[in-house]
Amino acid sequence: MAILCEFRLFVLLFSTLFFVSVAISFSPADEYLIDCGSVVDSTVDNRRFIGDVSASSNGKLFSSVGSITLQSEIPAPNLAQIYKTARIFTRQAKYEFNVVENGIQMVRIHFHRFNSSKIDFSDAEFHVTVNGYVVLRNFSGAFGPRVREFLIWVDVGKVVIRFVPSKDSKLAFVNAIEVISAPKDLIADVVTSVSNDGATEKLNGLVKQAMEVVYRINVGGRKVTPFNDTWWRTWVPDERFLKVSDGSEKVYFSGRIKYRLGGASREVGPDNLYNTARVVKSNNGSVSQVNMTWEFPVSSGYKYLIRLHFCDIASMSLGMLYFNIYINGNLAYQDLDMSDATNYVLASPYYIDFVVDGENSSSGLISLSVGPSNKSIEHVVDAILNGVEIMKMNNTLGSLDGSVSTEMILSHCPNRRNLSLFMSMVAFMCILMSVYIVTQRRKAKDGFGWLRLSDNVPEDNNNPKSVEGFGTRMP
Ligand SMILES: *[C@@H]1O[C@H](CO)[C@@H](O)[C@H](O)[C@H]1NC(C)=O
Ligand SMILES: *[C@@H]1O[C@H](CO)[C@@H](O)[C@H](O)[C@H]1NC(C)=O
Ligand SMILES: *[C@@H]1O[C@H](CO)[C@@H](O)[C@H](O)[C@H]1NC(C)=O
Ligand SMILES: *[C@@H]1O[C@H](CO)[C@@H](O)[C@H](O)[C@H]1NC(C)=O
Ligand SMILES: *[C@@H]1O[C@H](CO)[C@@H](O)[C@H](O)[C@H]1NC(C)=O
Ligand SMILES: *[C@@H]1O[C@H](CO)[C@@H](O)[C@H](O)[C@H]1NC(C)=O
Ligand SMILES: *[C@@H]1O[C@H](CO)[C@@H](O)[C@H](O)[C@H]1NC(C)=O
Ligand SMILES: *[C@@H]1O[C@H](CO)[C@@H](O)[C@H](O)[C@H]1NC(C)=O
Repeated sequence: MAILCEFRLFVLLFSTLFFVSVAISFSPADEYLIDCGSVVDSTVDNRRFIGDVSASSNGKLFSSVGSITLQSEIPAPNLAQIYKTARIFTRQAKYEFNVVENGIQMVRIHFHRFNSSKIDFSDAEFHVTVNGYVVLRNFSGAFGPRVREFLIWVDVGKVVIRFVPSKDSKLAFVNAIEVISAPKDLIADVVTSVSNDGATEKLNGLVKQAMEVVYRINVGGRKVTPFNDTWWRTWVPDERFLKVSDGSEKVYFSGRIKYRLGGASREVGPDNLYNTARVVKSNNGSVSQVNMTWEFPVSSGYKYLIRLHFCDIASMSLGMLYFNIYINGNLAYQDLDMSDATNYVLASPYYIDFVVDGENSSSGLISLSVGPSNKSIEHVVDAILNGVEIMKMNNTLGSLDGSVSTEMILSHCPNRRNLSLFMSMVAFMCILMSVYIVTQRRKAKDGFGWLRLSDNVPEDNNNPKSVEGFGTRMP
């Protein structure tokens, strides 16, 4: 009896522990959720975004002159709270976030242009830099929420996000910012690179590249919203990108996804990613001769990190699933043995990273295929894919958005300041000259030495452009 009780207690304890470890899987070292231009906090998907008007008062989160806060006058009824306010910048401004751990920080920036009687959003055109990387250039946003997501290696203790209007007459804006430390195992430092001619090699130093997440796809499944993701990502369905699907089908798995040490963790991909897939099956007693192919438009001139997610939720038993992976028509991985890759556990997630060079790709497309290999077996599944992520890597100038460096942007931007500096220098020279003349006269008259010239000099010609009447103005 006592033993039984102990056993029950043990089971209870064990299951509680298990449950807790599943529930609290990922708690980032640093996490900032900021609702820009807002006095009050807002909650989206159970996450609390702090209004930066209140936040800026107790920290140095935000610093700028010439910024205004704006509230949507007639917000769309279903719009998330964070998109109902914005901060507008008429000149360069920055947000600064202290971070305690060195590593990759995920920076998500939310933009939504709304109609306002006070601000004409058609004047929005600006650049955004993060810790010296150009992440957006000549950006304008759009009517309708847009989220841009960047992964930035940070070892200087802070994340600095700058907003720089492209010209004096233009303005910058932002609705919300997330800065979250990425899970430690998110990006491996060494990957296989597949060049245009099909040659493969190992590439080092991946974690320190700045990246933009350009595609995050849940193959064969539904959209996964931040609510259902371990660290609040969005995964979209693959239909739009699927080019060749003959003989393929979607599969759904209702059992438990078996995360393992050494495989993909739940932070790498959530259950909702791995429990759906597309597969190629051989139906007619022979291995089917089809590849499943997806195509993703990308801008050329960058390297891309491609992450393919696999989880064998379709095979009846181990040792049955072998297939090839092709990137841009080149064989990238031959005879992938899913059982071997997952240490002989079915329904266990696994991922492979590749880097492709889009430098000379004239097509502006990355094409991915999975299809049967020489080892594929009849009557079973011959290829599978559960998810795809494509991340753009910074170019040699440290930019994710064109041939421009942060130095170029920051040295270009303060036209107004240069101009006013020039003007004040001219004024100063004029005053100096008139003083000189006066003193010379005085000297000539009464031999008096020097004259103070304080009151006449304009002390600060750098006053921010006046934005009175547009709501709160930050000091
Ligand atoms: C905002 O203005 C644009 C352009 O003037 C218009 O097309 C759009 O319908 C307006 N949206 C709302 C919500 O009023
Ligand atoms: C932004 O666009 C303008 C007009 O198209 C262009 O002249 C300028 O060079 C662009 N700025 C950058 C940094 O690319
Ligand atoms: C979360 O996932 C569950 C199960 O897949 C689904 O029923 C639910 O609608 C999702 N919730 C949101 C907010 O996406
Ligand atoms: C099976 O055979 C039929 C008829 O020969 C053919 O149309 C179909 O494409 C084949 N299916 C596969 C998966 O090879
Ligand atoms: C799949 O695509 C690759 C690359 O284009 C090609 O070499 C291979 O023959 C294709 N396999 C099948 C079964 O069509
Ligand atoms: C891209 O093209 C340039 C000029 O044609 C060449 O020098 C370079 O090696 C090419 N890069 C790759 C990765 O093929
Ligand atoms: C299949 O096997 C043949 C002969 O063994 C080999 O030449 C070919 O490269 C293999 N192809 C693939 C895609 O594995
Ligand atoms: C990305 O930027 C870093 C530093 O700015 C640079 O060292 C690195 O070479 C860049 N990456 C590529 C692929 O050019």
